[in-house]
Amino acid sequence: MNAADLIALARQAQTQAYVPYSGFKVGAALLTQEGHIYTGANVENASYGLTVCAERIAVFKAVNDGECRFESIAIAGGGLDYLYPCGACLQVLAEFSRNIKIITVNENDDFREYYLSEMLPQVFSLDTSVRRVK
Ligand code: THU
Repeated sequence: MNAADLIALARQAQTQAYVPYSGFKVGAALLTQEGHIYTGANVENASYGLTVCAERIAVFKAVNDGECRFESIAIAGGGLDYLYPCGACLQVLAEFSRNIKIITVNENDDFREYYLSEMLPQVFSLDTSVRRVK
């Protein structure tokens, strides 16, 4: 699957966003290493902090379906500029695939690609943060 096809699926997913508060629709399309696609759109809440981003919806759908190794994710928003994933979503993606390719898209569907390790060079990990009791 090429970037343009994944972006088209992210755009399709964007229409399903539930955004009564910000009005800002985001769509994501996640390609797994098994070759399947999971999409997501942001879901907001009256208690604003409970909002879940499009990227995390797509990841959680895939993981609940038994797929947790990812190739790439396309993310499309409504603004002029390229839409970069937030830090929380980068951390969630890093849980599963440090090498995932992130395809950010602007209003004209121009895109830029990054590896997750470029956007989040250091990741919180329990392995390195917790002193294990033997
Ligand atoms: N949002 C996403 O869905 N993904 C991002 O990467 C950034 C922000 C959503 C959350 C909220 O519903 C809206 O965009 C405005 O912040």
